[in-house]
Amino acid sequence: MTPEIWTAVDDYFGGLLVKEDAALLAAVEASAAAGLPPIQVSPAQGKFLHLLARMISARSVLEIGTLGAYSTIWLARALPEDGRVVTLEVNPKHAEVSLRNLARAGVANKVDLRLGKALETLPQLAGEGRGPFDLIFIDANKSDIPEYFAWALKLARLGGVIVSDNVVRKGAVLDANSGDADIQGVRRFAEMAGREKRVSSTVLQNVGGKGYDGFAISLVVE
Ligand code: SAH
Ligand code: DHB
Ligand code: MG
Repeated sequence: MTPEIWTAVDDYFGGLLVKEDAALLAAVEASAAAGLPPIQVSPAQGKFLHLLARMISARSVLEIGTLGAYSTIWLARALPEDGRVVTLEVNPKHAEVSLRNLARAGVANKVDLRLGKALETLPQLAGEGRGPFDLIFIDANKSDIPEYFAWALKLARLGGVIVSDNVVRKGAVLDANSGDADIQGVRRFAEMAGREKRVSSTVLQNVGGKGYDGFAISLVVE
């Protein structure tokens, strides 16, 4: 099996089932044109997040790591008219591109983009009494996933879902002695989630147009 086949299969189902519309395509294009790295979730993964939000009738979503708001658009579209996504982004250029992409997609009114380091904006959100959130998508820098997960546990409702992206990294997660802070962040997160009684978790490895990586999915059970 080769990455070319993964991409071809993503394209096959993409056209039949996932069906990105003009606003999603434009968000990817505008992000690339502005020089943002092309690391947004794949269309299939975006639709997965969208369906997950609908499956749990989510009304409030927290996203950590906006980039060009591609995943944010998928999530916002899953919510009722009075539903909200709070999305956290540290890079002002990414935030600016995101605001344009959200407006083009017609979901700006459902999205509250907070500029700043997530470890600073998360306590602010908590201080404002925001939450509890039905769904939390952790997708910023990987070295701080354990800290983001700890905040997610504080901010998610009972029965809420926490999804953490990029926990496989082509299998690099297996390297216990890795000098890469992102890998060590993922490993600390996995150990933490395994010990944590308030969640029940699993990991789905995925391949596709974005290569080989994975989602961790945690259900808040107490
Ligand atoms: N969720 C997006 C992809 C996010 S990429 C999508 O799938 O479409 C990761 C983003 O996290 C980048 O835009 C990066 O600038 C942002 N980021 C990195 N470190 C951060 C931090 N400390 N706080 C908030 N955002 C951060
Ligand atoms: C990276 C970050 C992501 O969120 C992602 O989905 C893929 C790659 C990165 O930092 O390399
Ligand atoms: Mg990611």
